[in-house]
Amino acid sequence: MAVRLAGVLTIVAGPVFADYDPSQYPAYETCALCHGLFGVSHTGKFPNLGGQKQAYIEAQIRAFRDGHRTNDGGQMVTIVTELHPEDIPFVAEWFASQDAPEPYASDETASGEAQFSELGCVTCHTNSSDGDPLVPYLTAQKPDYLAKQMIDFRDGARDPRTLPGMHKDLLAISDNEITALANYLAAEARP
Ligand code: HEC
Ligand code: HEC
Repeated sequence: MAVRLAGVLTIVAGPVFADYDPSQYPAYETCALCHGLFGVSHTGKFPNLGGQKQAYIEAQIRAFRDGHRTNDGGQMVTIVTELHPEDIPFVAEWFASQDAPEPYASDETASGEAQFSELGCVTCHTNSSDGDPLVPYLTAQKPDYLAKQMIDFRDGARDPRTLPGMHKDLLAISDNEITALANYLAAEARP
């Protein structure tokens, strides 16, 4: 009896969070800290997920989970191992159905735009809603995040299993050229 009473008192007197039960909250709330509840993140370290293609979001979650994508500094891997498998399509749908982020202003986009077309990126990354569902939108994405991904591709830290070596070969360009590409893409609106 004394033990039960002590337990009750702890709950009553404890902080409000004593009532927090993660199973009562939708799984996408665990993503909000880094990616924003509506998929617009606060820093370029975390990609915007709002309005991204659902199949792509799902594929990346699975890639982190299965150890095929490891360029996240360990943060995503930790989170996705805690995500119930049945919640994966649900969180992907939540973020995909949010509004796309606003594009980011940039002083100079012409050189990045020219390069995007010269390197042939545009053949896959079409910026249209009827493009390949597994090819992500790059437009209105955080420029720092985009630049990091391109450097990771170039330097071998990220290499999609479906396209081994392809981005690495295409992105054999300088950091400055990568920054120009990122600034151009981030400044373009999503369809
Ligand atoms: C502690 C911070 C953190 C949390 C919480 C987090 N993520 Fe991430 N996420 C990251 C980081 C960091 C990256 C980018 C890593 C990189 O540089 O490649 C990332 C990348 C992603 C990507 C890849 C996006 C792209 O464009 O390729 C997806 C999808 C994603 N996260 C989904 C989620 C989902 C869904 C959740 C919640 C279940 C979640 N994340 C929770 C930190 C986090
Ligand atoms: C043959 C089709 C194809 C071409 C050409 C291509 N990409 Fe990609 N790109 C993809 C696919 C598919 C992915 C998703 C990779 C994955 O599953 O991890 C991707 C991913 C990316 C990402 C990561 C986006 C994110 O949200 O994490 C960036 C950045 C990118 N590509 C930039 C480029 C640039 C710049 C070029 C031109 C130099 C290019 N791509 C050429 C198919 C292509």
